[in-house]
Amino acid sequence: MSIIKNDNWLRESNDASIIKDAGHDGNALTIWHRQAEYDLISAVKEISDNSLPDVHWTGTLVGFSKWLDTHLMSIPHAHRDAMAVIADDIYELAKWFDSRCNASEYIFRCHRLDETMCPRFHTDRGPMRLFCTYRGKGTEWVPDTAVDYSLLKARGTKNSDIVPDPTMIQTVPNFAAAVLCGSDEHGKGGVVHRSPGVFESTNRFAFCMTLNF
Ligand SMILES: [Fe+2]
Repeated sequence: MSIIKNDNWLRESNDASIIKDAGHDGNALTIWHRQAEYDLISAVKEISDNSLPDVHWTGTLVGFSKWLDTHLMSIPHAHRDAMAVIADDIYELAKWFDSRCNASEYIFRCHRLDETMCPRFHTDRGPMRLFCTYRGKGTEWVPDTAVDYSLLKARGTKNSDIVPDPTMIQTVPNFAAAVLCGSDEHGKGGVVHRSPGVFESTNRFAFCMTLNF
């Protein structure tokens, strides 16, 4: 495994197997940095917005694979090859997350976003989730040392109260797969993150997978 960074709270690598240890031994954020293949980059660039799935789907990994196949057959023929490449990649990420969680059921979300979903810094509920942004700006996150956790759930606080130093805000790169622990899993309340700004979210496409807890 080629480790880029490992301070336990944050682990980064260009090796997929890092996903298998996400959330263990004090880890809150795991990022698998992927060098996307040319075919995938082209597919994401060329496919029409309407051909990309926009769905919340709950069920097994195998069931989701079948759903992706069904979606593939429902889109215009001209975009089918591109969607097949993207669907294969999504399924690959899903398999890695399943190798970590080994759950009987998940919630799979494919988002075509045209507005900011969660502009306020927050932690997610539940143990952990996997994110990958294929198109548009990625999820923004903040190291735990740069967060005032006491203000996270307080009423009336602004993002600049929760994260006083904006230079500490990081962005998960496109195609990287990030596993973020939520507030139930990590002692300090999980990874603080937010969706990117509205003007930067236009034409965004992201995949997210969580345990169905
Ligand atoms: Fe979130």
